[in-house]
Order: sequence, then C-alpha cells, then structure tokens
Amino acid sequence: MQFTGRVVLGITGSISAYKSLFVARELLKQGCEIQVVFTQAAAQFVTPLSFSALTGKPVLSSMVQGDNQTWNNHIELASWCQLLLIAPMTANTLANLANGQCTELLHAVYLSAKSDVMACPAMDHDMWHHNSVKRNLSTLIQDGVHIMMPEHGPLASGLVGDGRLPEPSQIVAAINLRFGTRLA
Ligand SMILES: Cc1cc2nc3c(=O)[nH]c(=O)nc-3n(C[C@H](O)[C@H](O)[C@H](O)COP(=O)(O)O)c2cc1C
Repeated sequence: MQFTGRVVLGITGSISAYKSLFVARELLKQGCEIQVVFTQAAAQFVTPLSFSALTGKPVLSSMVQGDNQTWNNHIELASWCQLLLIAPMTANTLANLANGQCTELLHAVYLSAKSDVMACPAMDHDMWHHNSVKRNLSTLIQDGVHIMMPEHGPLASGLVGDGRLPEPSQIVAAINLRFGTRLA
C-alpha cells in the first residue's frame, strides 16, 4: 500500500542530495503533500527553487524568515507532518540529532516531531564506519528513528565502499512498506 500522507522532507549537505528530488517526485505522484526543510549546508548541493517548483511550497531553511519578523514555526511543522523523512542524513546531522542539538530548523522539527521519523544516512565509507557515527546511529535507533541503511557501491569520493544513499525508488518502497498501511 502506498503512503499518501503529509511529509516533512529534511535535506542535508550531502553530495547525494540530488536524489531527494526524485524521492519528492515519487512521493508527490503517489499523493503525498511535502514540505521541504533544508539545512544551511543543503543549499550548497541542491537548489531550493527545484524543490519549491516541484512541491508547490517554498523551501524552509532557517528558524526565522529574512525580515527577522516571521518565525518558521517548527512546532506547527512537526505536528502537521505524518512522516518526517531525512534523506540524505549527513554524519553531522546524525550527530546533532543523536545529541539533542538544535542549531537548524530541521533539528527543531525533529525534536518536536510526534510522527514517525525515517532517516537515510549517506556518507563516505570511512565516515560510515567511524565509531562515533556508529554510536550516534545506535542512539537514534534507540530513540525510535527508522533507519534505512546505506548501500555498498561507487561513492562520490571515487572509492567503492559503504555509505551510498539507496536509489530513490528503494527509499520510496521502504516508506510504503513501513508506513503505507498506517494511514489506510
Ligand atoms: C563535496 C562534498 C560532499 C559531501 N558529502 C557528504 C556526505 O555525503 N555525507 C556527509 O555526512 N557529509 C558530507 N559532506 C560534509 C557536509 O557537507 C558537512 O559536514 C556539513 O557541515 C553538513 O551539514 P548539515 O548536516 O547541517 O547539512 C560533504 C562535503 C562536501 C564538500
């Protein structure tokens, strides 16, 4: 059964962030509503314009809007969404979330979320196998986050190893498998 709910799609500063456009497109096709939240670093890899054009909603990336008078209400976002999907999730964001740090809008949404949370870590082989990353990952799993493990394959560094973000169709299939029946 396909998941057709409201999704906050968190995108972080990984070379694999372009794949999230395809994830968003597939989720929209099957009936989801999507609000994209970028970390500050995400915009170095993909443009907000691509995501806002696709989803029909401006991408949010900071706690306050440019005029400093409007608040991007993370609590409303957290209660609006039926799934918080963080794909890709960098080692940095993983560490932030595992330790309750709140320096980005995305962290604030995560800390306020009542919905299911699914995260797809993506990084280089050696980062993925570092003990600190393993510790942080096990904390997130204990905290109830659904982790989609990265794959073995060619990496942006030119090496072949672990840490590759799965293909968008696999991410969407995993969402449907885990959460597709929840809204039926
Ligand atoms: C070209 C390039 C590619 C990167 N790809 C990744 C990546 O796939 N995974 C990762 O954990 N960090 C990656 N980084 C490092 C992150 O961009 C950096 O840690 C950043 O601070 C992450 O911020 P964020 O977690 O708030 O998005 C990359 C950096 C560069 C310059």
